[in-house]
Amino acid sequence: MWYKGMNDRNQEIREKVKSYYSELTKLKGGELASAVCSCASDCIPEPVKKIVSELPEEIIMRYYGCGSPIPDRINGCTVLDLGCGTGRDVYVVSKLTGESGRVIGIDMNEDQLAVAEKYKEEMAGKWGFSNVTFKKGFIEDLASAGIEDASVDVVISNCVINLSPDKERVFSEIWRVLKDGGVLYFSDIFADRKVPEEINTHPLLLGECLGGSMSHDEFRKVMRQTGWEDFTVVSSRETPINNEEIEKLVGDIRYTSDTVRAVKPVSNAPCVCCKSQKEYAIPYKQASCCCESSPGCCC
Ligand SMILES: C[S@@+](CC[C@H](N)C(=O)[O-])C[C@H]1O[C@@H](n2cnc3c(N)ncnc32)[C@H](O)[C@@H]1O
Repeated sequence: MWYKGMNDRNQEIREKVKSYYSELTKLKGGELASAVCSCASDCIPEPVKKIVSELPEEIIMRYYGCGSPIPDRINGCTVLDLGCGTGRDVYVVSKLTGESGRVIGIDMNEDQLAVAEKYKEEMAGKWGFSNVTFKKGFIEDLASAGIEDASVDVVISNCVINLSPDKERVFSEIWRVLKDGGVLYFSDIFADRKVPEEINTHPLLLGECLGGSMSHDEFRKVMRQTGWEDFTVVSSRETPINNEEIEKLVGDIRYTSDTVRAVKPVSNAPCVCCKSQKEYAIPYKQASCCCESSPGCCC
């Protein structure tokens, strides 16, 4: 079942990506063909590394992220992970948000989700609580997966948005589901130029996150088209490929793995109790609120 309005080209891309990641779950080692979707230990902050060391081996082995898009100070937040795969970041964030937080992982691939689901009970036992939900769905159509307007504090995504042939829809959906002041934090593969169609539709290059990656110009354009103004690249590192066949196919295009932080601005609606404008000290946490009965109040 694909989402409404998807054209034939995009459906074909989706099928290639889906079968690539289903095949991976059948491989014992579960390794991708290149080093693109990988995150060297120096790109993972120490507190995250420590939590990762407590995760089941299979989840670590079947992790295909290219960065560490996990912001600080998310205790109590509702976090949505787009393209959660086998759930590594979901379980890390589950511990960081704590019992009062909530984490939803969405992925279109049932084989990846089955691995994530398998460890739910074990992880609840380890953390001492369960605040995790996995949903099958498309990142272009979060509404069909039941994600309501303005219901999420933080959206994260690790090496997934590059796989979507309809990025405009993805960024529009993220905007819709985030609360005012909410934050999008994602790691993705970017190219140093517009990537040609034969790379964007090549099954191997797509699966390895090289096909479909945006240039920074394309990224800025799609963000502005979908309403985003406040976004920053917070880190960037050259992407290793380490596969001769793939290096030959992409030629002299250079790729980086970048982590981006974007903020959905607070609306100008006045505070419900003092009628002044809302202000948040930390965008995704309404920490500057001094009025416990009306979160968001700034008087
Ligand atoms: C490179 S893996 C990254 C997985 C995970 N974020 C991690 O760090 O291990 C890409 C994942 O995105 C999922 N995916 C790709 N396109 C998607 C889409 N349009 N909607 C939902 N999931 C998608 C794939 O099924 C796969 O699990």
